[in-house]
Amino acid sequence: MITVLRKCQEVVSYLPVELIDHISRGLNLSPSEVYGVASFYSLFSMKPKGRHIVKVCMGTACYVKGIKEVIDRISNQYELKEGGTSEDRRFSLEAVRCLGACGLAPVAVVNEDIYGGTSANSILNILEKYE
Ligand code: FES
Repeated sequence: MITVLRKCQEVVSYLPVELIDHISRGLNLSPSEVYGVASFYSLFSMKPKGRHIVKVCMGTACYVKGIKEVIDRISNQYELKEGGTSEDRRFSLEAVRCLGACGLAPVAVVNEDIYGGTSANSILNILEKYE
């Protein structure tokens, strides 16, 4: 089921209720079983995501080095809350635990691109590259 959910989310970018119903029929399971799995794992989203996923590290090293200011700047600039998606669906902002690059703290990841040594000023220049 997880493989099916992952593939579907890759195509549609999230898992709407209609798709969960369709998956449940295809797997011969109840919609609540599929929903239960999809809602358990943070990997899956039931809400539409932005074109670009911005992950900010809330691990200790990044926190100490100022990731909170980076998050605040993103939130203010794009009217975006942690776990939310901007109105224009340009960005989704996710706070995550240690990304395993503590030496580069504070760390942000945009889609697959890793940015170390970010600051409240540099993050806006970084995000402007992503339309
Ligand atoms: S605490 Fe941020 S990468 Fe480890």
